[in-house]
Amino acid sequence: MCNRTTSTMTGGARRRPLRAGVIAGLVALFSIVIPVLAAADDSLPSRKQVLLLSASLWESYRWHIVAVVGLIGAQGVLIGALLLQHGRRRRAETVVRERLDFETLVSDLSARFVDLRGAEVDEGIARGLRRVGEHLGLDNALILEFSADDRAVHLTHQWTAPGVPSPRPSMELDRFPWSVERVRRGEIVRFSKLDELPEAAAVDREELAALGIKSVVGIPLAAAGTAMGVLTLSTLRRAQEWSDDLVQRLEFVGGIFSSALLRQRGEIELRKLRRDLTHVGRVATMGELTASIAHELNQPLTAILSNAQVAERLIDSGVDAKDLREIVSDIVADDKRAIDVIHRLRAFFKKDDTNQRPLDVNAVIQDVVSLVRSDATTRGVSIDLELEAGLPVVLADRVQLQQVVLNLIMNGLDAMRTSDDRRLAIATRVSADGVVRVSVSDRGSGVAECELPLVFEPFYTTKPQGLGMGLSIARSLVEAHGGRLWAQNNSNGGATFSFTLPLSKERPSSSG
Ligand SMILES: Nc1ncnc2c1ncn2[C@@H]1O[C@H](COP(=O)(O)OP(=O)(O)O)[C@@H](O)[C@H]1O
Ligand SMILES: [Mg+2]
Repeated sequence: MCNRTTSTMTGGARRRPLRAGVIAGLVALFSIVIPVLAAADDSLPSRKQVLLLSASLWESYRWHIVAVVGLIGAQGVLIGALLLQHGRRRRAETVVRERLDFETLVSDLSARFVDLRGAEVDEGIARGLRRVGEHLGLDNALILEFSADDRAVHLTHQWTAPGVPSPRPSMELDRFPWSVERVRRGEIVRFSKLDELPEAAAVDREELAALGIKSVVGIPLAAAGTAMGVLTLSTLRRAQEWSDDLVQRLEFVGGIFSSALLRQRGEIELRKLRRDLTHVGRVATMGELTASIAHELNQPLTAILSNAQVAERLIDSGVDAKDLREIVSDIVADDKRAIDVIHRLRAFFKKDDTNQRPLDVNAVIQDVVSLVRSDATTRGVSIDLELEAGLPVVLADRVQLQQVVLNLIMNGLDAMRTSDDRRLAIATRVSADGVVRVSVSDRGSGVAECELPLVFEPFYTTKPQGLGMGLSIARSLVEAHGGRLWAQNNSNGGATFSFTLPLSKERPSSSG
């Protein structure tokens, strides 16, 4: 389309000098033909006195002079027209080139944003704003988002030209009532000079003038029918014309940014939801463990009490400090044990984002087993560990992995309530396909074949006090780690729940 415009323009300009050339040619022709015609008239009547006057230069060469001047004039016109046409073509070429450059920039942006993950969106937008701002020679390219209470806009992404002061991080909406109303309706706000703003925008104009803004285009960023914010491009040091063509392209850029922001918000929401759900599941599982936790804490606390009582008696009987020291160090050790239990519980209850690190699965299992062992003992269940030595590390979140293992163990204990043979086996090994495989086998009731696919469904439970969320959360956690979780019935009774985790390429972290 752009090319066609150029060629029409060039053709039009070429026709005018042509016409000038034709006129100049005609003038030259007449200047030669007329003197010849005049000279042909020499038939004078007889006896007429002829007075010969010597002709002036002008009289002799009048037509030649006229012709030469005409020719020079025509040439001048021709050269002028050519120069004019050249200038016009240069300008048209520049416009087309700039438009093409911007077009390339926009399509490049759009291509880059297609597979941008939520975490990369902010950086991508910042880069996009800079490219647009620099390309158009602007002073500011910003994204302002409406606050949750809808009373202000917050600066979320920005690019500012060097030497231009940074804009404020947030502004109240009532300072720009006219502009805000239009943006909310999904309309573009645009002006090249403040004078272009209508009388109704007097408040906006005053505020913009105070901010030193000369020209602005504000593109609403749409989210589910309403504007979540605005892409604002402005100049402070000069006026900028915002052609329809340019605004149309900027609108497209705004669309790219807003869909990326929406995607990012969705991902954040989903992560939060998953975190809340996982936390609820963990708290629920912990609820089942209260007896075990009480026991874990009770042991060191009882030991501390009896040691302290012994120390009291020894002090009364006037024993020397050396004997006391041993008792006191026992008290310190027991206290540390109690603190350790509390630390572990606190870590487990914390509502944290995923924190995947290289982990030793065997160590995580031993941790969880130490937490449930007394509960198992109370229920008459023995726990056998068949942990493969030197297991390669996996990349996993410690608390989430604990949660998965704990859920499987608790379900196994529940399933053996009425069994005679109450044994729970937890095994780890590396599979041939290069993943770590964990399995928890019980000798309980097993799962009815038709219910095997159901047990992972949310809210599916066969227990009077059950939530039915344990396995569904466990499966989503395992899958978030790139693994699988499934159930099988054992040939000799009971069920085995197994899950896999991909190996990590890193070494285990000591702190993890
Ligand atoms: N080891 C197991 N043996 C037999 N059935 C099981 C076992 N683990 C889970 N189930 C079945 O799957 C259901 C869902 O388990 P889960 O999601 O952990 O929820 P909840 O434990 O709250 O019922 C249980 O109610 C039970 O019927
Ligand atoms: Mg459960």
